[in-house]
Amino acid sequence: MKNIYSNIFSFNKKNLNKAVDFLKREYLVSLPTETVYGLGGNAYSKKAVKNIFKLKKRPSFNPLIVHYFSFKEANKDVVLNKNFFKLYKKFCPGPITFVLKKKTNSRIHSLVSAKLKTVAIRFPSHPIVRSVLKNINFPLAMPSANLSTKVSPVCAKDVSDEFKKNIRFIFDGGNSKIGIESTVVDLTKKPKIIRPGIILPHALKKLVKLYVNNENSKIVSPGMLKKHYSPGIPIFLNQKDSKNGEAFITFGKKYKNNNNYFNLSKKSDLKEAASNLYRVLRKIKKLKFKKIYVVKIPKKGIGIAINDRLKKAAN
Ligand code: TXA
Ligand code: MG
Repeated sequence: MKNIYSNIFSFNKKNLNKAVDFLKREYLVSLPTETVYGLGGNAYSKKAVKNIFKLKKRPSFNPLIVHYFSFKEANKDVVLNKNFFKLYKKFCPGPITFVLKKKTNSRIHSLVSAKLKTVAIRFPSHPIVRSVLKNINFPLAMPSANLSTKVSPVCAKDVSDEFKKNIRFIFDGGNSKIGIESTVVDLTKKPKIIRPGIILPHALKKLVKLYVNNENSKIVSPGMLKKHYSPGIPIFLNQKDSKNGEAFITFGKKYKNNNNYFNLSKKSDLKEAASNLYRVLRKIKKLKFKKIYVVKIPKKGIGIAINDRLKKAAN
């Protein structure tokens, strides 16, 4: 059944065929994943990949992640190494992305990884994106379904709001469970986290020799823009309160309910806070607040990923 938003579709056999058909014809579709919603297109198709960059207004130097159903399909395009298999067995399908060497005979279009010799690959766990991947014989280049530098979408309506009529098909897969983007691990040399996420360094360290200076050290990934994840209004971090009734993002039970207070997690649960972050940023923007003040969020565990996104949003 179609929702009131004409480009949002619920999951059933007929709509699955429609999505698959769109992708085969090199069009783009938006799909739910467990992290955030993605804007997917055939990673082997120049037309599809070009359109992803165009629709997102994404600079061509910022590479895309390629999504597969399983390692068997990925094996055709990238060199899978020992560290990869250790992490794959434990975490996939799931919220983790691996940067690996591209095979010389790989069919992935060169624009996908900004002409680098590496490709970032991921195996998402959301059942809808898995059904789609199972029914196509090419991988999906799929960045988050938002305009470049803006906040990632965590429900179908976010995607519809972002691209309006410019996107024809969005699968409704409910609210994204995790709510922030996957952990990105570079496995081309010594394993190294280049984007923090819900899968934490200590979990990776149990399986591979992870290269880390300290948990707060600078994390860089190519094409990472200084400004990113931005709701488009000024954000002030590590604040004790908001000024002039502007929005105040809080964390923990000591913050009472208030019209301009937005608590990421009353029970001080960082996982819950991560899952609420983008929804709260979008809500504040919609309510037309002019500024966002944010309380100090602990810089440990998933808090590192939250602080990473907030810092870039504040830039
Ligand atoms: O959770 C996610 O990863 C979501 C969902 C939709 O799967 N996708 C996502 O894609 O966050 P995007 O395009 O918003 O972020 C891709 C990240 C960027 O930080 C980019 O620099 C990095 O992956 N990346 C892509 N290819 C790379 C490569 N070859 N080497 C290093 N980093 C790469
Ligand atoms: Mg993104």
